[in-house]
Formats: sequence, structure tokens, C-alpha cells
Amino acid sequence: MSAVAESEAKILLTTQPGWAFATIEELRGLGVPGRFPRYHRDSSLLVPDLGKTEPDELGTPAIVCGIVLDAGSTGRDDAVSELTKGLKPKALKEKTLNLLRGSTGAGHRRFSISTEAYGRTTMHRKQLASAIEAAVKAAFPRWRRAPEAGARFLCKADPEYAVLALQLHTNLGGDHGERPGSLREHLAAGLLTIAGASRDSAVFDPFMGTGTILKVASEAFRAGPTIGLEVSRDTYEEAERRLKGTGSNIFNKRFEDFDMRSLPADANLVSNVPFGRRFPRASSEVLTELVNGSPFRGKRSTLLMSREQAMEVSKETGLRSRNVLVLGQPASIVYG
Ligand SMILES: C[S@@+](CC[C@H](N)C(=O)[O-])C[C@H]1O[C@@H](n2cnc3c(N)ncnc32)[C@H](O)[C@@H]1O
Repeated sequence: MSAVAESEAKILLTTQPGWAFATIEELRGLGVPGRFPRYHRDSSLLVPDLGKTEPDELGTPAIVCGIVLDAGSTGRDDAVSELTKGLKPKALKEKTLNLLRGSTGAGHRRFSISTEAYGRTTMHRKQLASAIEAAVKAAFPRWRRAPEAGARFLCKADPEYAVLALQLHTNLGGDHGERPGSLREHLAAGLLTIAGASRDSAVFDPFMGTGTILKVASEAFRAGPTIGLEVSRDTYEEAERRLKGTGSNIFNKRFEDFDMRSLPADANLVSNVPFGRRFPRASSEVLTELVNGSPFRGKRSTLLMSREQAMEVSKETGLRSRNVLVLGQPASIVYG
């Protein structure tokens, strides 16, 4: 018997490598029960049962997909053979149309397929894509395959677990502050989730750049007051433009010249500190002083930084650290 499972509302979330733990925090915060991670080599996959949560309410994942078909390995066959056995045009059509009803923006009669296969699977990536293409064409004879267009099928497979899903929502696009070095909004949401930001909680970003963290804090988390500092004049002006109407208090200042005593006593420190590649690095001593000083006192801090600096800062502050990738670059989140 095939191990293909066909549950109604199963959702697949792909996250940036390393960031799954932020998404898991977010799902827990939303009351989604269960254990749901499945990992593929260089991306993280979560398969939660969202219940009544709408996929576009999620702030931290990269891509949200509805599961068309998934399969596990059996004693005899690996997950990829089980998945391809389940590629029946009639069922594929029904499931796809059901999912597309709930999604926005998928163009008509065109589809794209991206496949990732890890480990020693019975089919390699391209063979798997051809099998899926044949099934989609049999299900929808008028549809044409086109790169990155229309209905987007995503297949991820390893010998143990294989999944074919249809993209419903992505937060990889959008407003990135239009400047190199700006943080993507979903990663800012990840930092704020780890920081436990919530309605009316104060957020302080001493290296705000174009203000992504504060923007997401006030718009998606309804946090406030939000306070930010930025040393460069034109970056500050860009932040001012982006944060208009959010009520953020921002200053064109070096953080060394800012009086931390003016911050609310329960403020969260959430920041993407200068890494030293594009911007001059803030020293680990100065960061340690900031975290250990008033009002944070070694707590309520979530900082994205280089891995090397994370080791130094977590040693001096007692904060935890987790390795992540940011646009393919190694980095760490120091938090606690
Ligand atoms: C990694 S970027 C932050 C990017 C930001 N998260 C965004 O989305 O635009 C670090 C920022 O810190 C600023 N910066 C560097 N040293 C600073 C200092 N001593 N005080 C305040 N800002 C500083 C840099 O000009 C840069 O814009």
C-alpha cells in the first residue's frame, strides 16, 4: 500500500536555513500544537497543522505552501517512489484547484515546478520534475510550463520524506529598504518573535539602518514605543520615510551618544548589528556593555551578528546563540 498521505489542510513552511526555530516560536505563540519540523539539508521545512490560522498571517517563514501530496519511505521503497506512485491526475487536479481557490496571485494556465532532492533518492531532481510535469499536464491539458510563473509547485525530497506542495504565500518579496544591508522583513519578524515582541512592548534598535525591525515591530507586532538610532544621515532619512506614520521615535545619532536611561525600563533590544563587511563593526566590548547595562541587564536582547562576534558576546553576557544564514551568509542570533 502506498504511504501517500492526503490530509485536507496540511501546510508546508520553508524557512531560511537556521531560522526554523523562530518560526516554531511563532507557531507556538499562535497556539498551533504539535511537533512539526522536518529538515532538508540546506533549508528547513515545517509541516504544522495550522487549524484556523491563515497562512499569510505568519511573519517569519519564507514560503507557505499547501501540501498536494506527501509520502514517507516504506520498508521496501523510498519516499520519492512512494510520492511518484501517488501522482494521479484526477486527485492532483482536485487538490490543486482546492488550494488555488484560497490563494492569491497565481496566474491561469501556467505553472512552474521547482524540485530539490537530497541524499540517495531513487530519482534525481530532474527526473522527479519530469514526473511531476507529466502528472500536471495530464491533470490540466491546457496548462503550459513556464519558469517562475502561474501555479508554483515545489517538491522537496529525501529518501525518508518527500512532499509536493503548491505555493500560497511568500514573504520573500516586498519592501527591503532598497539599500544593500537592509534586513528582509520576514527575518526582522523572526528576530522580533524570538524577542517576544508583542502589542505595546517597547523595542529599541540602536543600529536601525533603514528601520526594517522597527517597521515590522509596529506594523506586524503592534509593538510600541519603538525607538531607533542610526549614524548615517542618508540612511536615517530613508528610515524616516519608511517609518512615517508608525509613531517610531528615531534619532540620527551614534548609539554611544545616546542616553540609555531615557529608554522604557522593559524595552527589548532587537538589532542587526554592523557585521564589519559593509559597515564598520561595533566592538564586542561595547555590545556587551550595552546588553549588560541598564535597562537590559543581560536580558531582553536579540541581536543578529557575525558568528565570531556572537561567540565573544554570548560568553560575556551569558546569552544563548544560534547559527543562521542571512542571504547565504553565515551569521548568529544572540538572544535571551
Ligand atoms: C547591518 S545595518 C542595519 C540594517 C537594518 N536592520 C536595516 O534593515 O536597514 C547596521 C547599521 O548600523 C549603523 N551604525 C554603525 N555604527 C553605528 C553606531 N555607532 N551608532 C548607530 N548606528 C550605527 C550603520 O550605518 C548601518 O546602517
